Amino acid sequence: MCGIIGYVGHRPAAEILINGLRRLEYRGYDSAGIALIDNGRLNILKNAGKVNLLAERMRASWNAELLNRATLGIAHTRWATHGPPTEVNAHPHTDQTGRLALVHNGIIENYASLRRQLEGRGHKFLSQTDTEVLAHLIGEFYKGDLVDAVCAALKHVEGTYGIACVSADLPGAMVVARKGSPLLIGVGENETIVASDVSAIISHTRQVIYLDDNDVALVTAAGAEIRDINNISVSRAVASVDWEESAAEKGGFAHFMLKEIFEQPDALQNTMRGRLDEEMGSAFLAGLQFTPREMAGIRRVVILACGTSMHAGMVGRYFFEELADLPTEVEQAAEFRYRNPLIGGHDLVIAISQSGETADTLAAVREAIQKGALVVSLCNVVGSTIARETGRGVYLHAGPEIGVASTKAFTSQLLVLLMMALKFGRSRRLSREEGLEICREVRSVPGLVRETLKQNDAIAALAARYAKARDFFYIGRGLLYPVALEGALKLKEISYIHAEGYHAAELKHGPIALLDENVPVLALACDVPGKDKTFSNIQECRARQAPVLSVVTDGDPSLPEMLTDIIRVPPSSPRLTPITVVVALQLFAYHVARIRGCPIDQPKNLAKSVTVE
Ligand code: G6P
Repeated sequence: MCGIIGYVGHRPAAEILINGLRRLEYRGYDSAGIALIDNGRLNILKNAGKVNLLAERMRASWNAELLNRATLGIAHTRWATHGPPTEVNAHPHTDQTGRLALVHNGIIENYASLRRQLEGRGHKFLSQTDTEVLAHLIGEFYKGDLVDAVCAALKHVEGTYGIACVSADLPGAMVVARKGSPLLIGVGENETIVASDVSAIISHTRQVIYLDDNDVALVTAAGAEIRDINNISVSRAVASVDWEESAAEKGGFAHFMLKEIFEQPDALQNTMRGRLDEEMGSAFLAGLQFTPREMAGIRRVVILACGTSMHAGMVGRYFFEELADLPTEVEQAAEFRYRNPLIGGHDLVIAISQSGETADTLAAVREAIQKGALVVSLCNVVGSTIARETGRGVYLHAGPEIGVASTKAFTSQLLVLLMMALKFGRSRRLSREEGLEICREVRSVPGLVRETLKQNDAIAALAARYAKARDFFYIGRGLLYPVALEGALKLKEISYIHAEGYHAAELKHGPIALLDENVPVLALACDVPGKDKTFSNIQECRARQAPVLSVVTDGDPSLPEMLTDIIRVPPSSPRLTPITVVVALQLFAYHVARIRGCPIDQPKNLAKSVTVE
């Protein structure tokens, strides 16, 4: 997500900070900023857009003396979560006095109530960010000891943070802290570099201290004094990093896609953060405010999306129909406006788009708005066109997705759709107890994904057996039918193997004619309704000599003996099975493509964001 770099030492900070930001660019960002402390003054520059633009503006706006003299500063690349990617929302943010500056990664969940309290005490805010609220809070506690002030402020904060904070009154030192968002301290020769990511540090030093949650550190050129949040000293070991710089960019993973697959437990945690109402068994989705009249008037849900996002919508359909008793249709966005879509004020249209820029989805959104439907969006990129034009919606908070093949956005989309269906369900038919049960399910998702990821080596071994296939069929039914489509899409996107997803029952209406010993079938036979019928479909494939690779529920006592090649996912409620299964299928596609030597992060002919119809 966002990136932090800070420097204190004997060399000019500006260039080191800008180069550090460049090392963080791979994480994806939409704005950048820098603060330098010099001669008792705080100098800040920030802008929407690229680090290069920031570097140019810095050279044009700040004189050479400042650039060469200042040896203390912080900088940031922002990936918007609260408020669009504008100059005013970019970090660093200052406190009420304008003498203290803060950069922050993570999400302050209770920022709205903190902001109201601070406004009540006369604070004025310039941005829409949660970070500015934290800067003001630290500023309010600052009475000459910045560590004290940071500790005091953080005690009022709910959520996650990695922060670096400087003050014009404190030459030669900064204060950093972490909870839930990584922060590390690189210890050099008479200089110290802090960053959210080791890739920004290793060109300077390989001696690194990884902060633990609730650590607060006073950082000077001589190193770091680390305290806990009660300002009591703690000691942390210095580790030696042996990564190559190129590997560090991807967090040690060989490809962005693999990194993003493994990020899913954290991404899902961020997606649900602060959104479960564990009191009422519902979901807080602040961007989905409806008047009681609008809410009561909804008769149907229409989901519009393309590609992977459409597959998420197809799973979402089951959630809305089951939990909210709402008839739900899913439509390829590209098709929508070329029919005469019979849509109006009683329809809730949900546009799903990771990028928020897909041209077909945007065109369908405009059509639905024009026809008077209630239109909301589910996007990952804050401030994207679809998010802006719909006005109402929910952000995924999954972090930037760089690999062209969508992975973590898909699972976060499923989680948001489940929470949306829960919210609607609670207002229509679900009891509080049923709602609480679904809250419990949602909370278990990151753990289930973590369990599934443990199958990585086993899946890699199976992938080696299937990597030479020219054609593949994926079959599933019910909630797992859209997952079969998504699994087949992943395989063809990155391995270039021809793969088709089919409803398990549809196979015998044509495609079965193509099966033989050279055409494997990947069958989704987990413990969900319809499983026994899928077992029969597997028999039919085996009878045509097709090799069958089955995804099953670990510990399922009813597995037929004929299943030989098996991928196991942990037991869960059927509603959550699409999430665990798709993670297994992402890994399978990844390993097949790796074994075939494909350019996984830049597959031929594909684009991350398709802005033409
Ligand atoms: C492109 C991407 C897919 C994505 C689709 C929809 O085809 O390669 O991964 O699923 O667009 O993108 P969106 O940003 O609207 O979810």
